Amino acid sequence: MGGQTLTDQGFDLIFRGARTANGWKDQPVSDEILKKIYDDMKWGPTSANSSPLRIVFLKTKEAKERLKPLLMAGNVNKVMTSPVTAILAYDTKFYEHLPFLFPHDNTARSWFEGNAPLIETTAFRNSSLQGAYFIISARAHGLDCGPMSGFDAKKVDAEFFPDGRFRSNFICALGHADSSKTFARSPRFKFEDVCKVL
Ligand SMILES: Cc1cc2nc3c(=O)[nH]c(=O)nc-3n(C[C@H](O)[C@H](O)[C@H](O)COP(=O)(O)O)c2cc1C
Repeated sequence: MGGQTLTDQGFDLIFRGARTANGWKDQPVSDEILKKIYDDMKWGPTSANSSPLRIVFLKTKEAKERLKPLLMAGNVNKVMTSPVTAILAYDTKFYEHLPFLFPHDNTARSWFEGNAPLIETTAFRNSSLQGAYFIISARAHGLDCGPMSGFDAKKVDAEFFPDGRFRSNFICALGHADSSKTFARSPRFKFEDVCKVL
């Protein structure tokens, strides 16, 4: 695959023209597209192929009502009017799956077992990476995203993951944006401002 690139249209779809959604058109999102989003993003790399991300898609009003009181006030409408809001969480026991996910080294599970700081760092880092793959995949499949961290994570975990194994990282509303609610594009740093080539 090396050497191939996306067209300008492809770059526009996932980066240059893609915007964070703040409101939604009344247009549903099918379960088939949610599956396609996952089936592409799952190939994004994670350390030791640990793949700690777990996703709960809230589609029904009843499911979103469970999240509603746990949101920052400014995020309530964005979630409640969205066709789908995903909770992107991580598995704190991701290493239990390493015999399946990383079969070429059967010691991989022992690198993590009992090492709480390494488990937390690895799960959070790699689920955040997978969250970015999720956004890019959703955009590539023609959806807009509204990622949000303005919620009470402890309460979300108690509500949706009561056995304590999974922890929320961020949530992401999905659908077709009502672009009248999109803010003006904020600036980004230039290459020279934030990158060094040594
Ligand atoms: C992890 C994450 C958390 C965010 N949390 C919130 C939030 O709680 N509420 C909100 O309105 N926007 C939230 N945002 C949206 C950002 O402010 C927005 O993506 C950023 O300003 C870039 O906007 P643009 O994609 O339109 O250029 C969040 C974005 C990310 C990636």
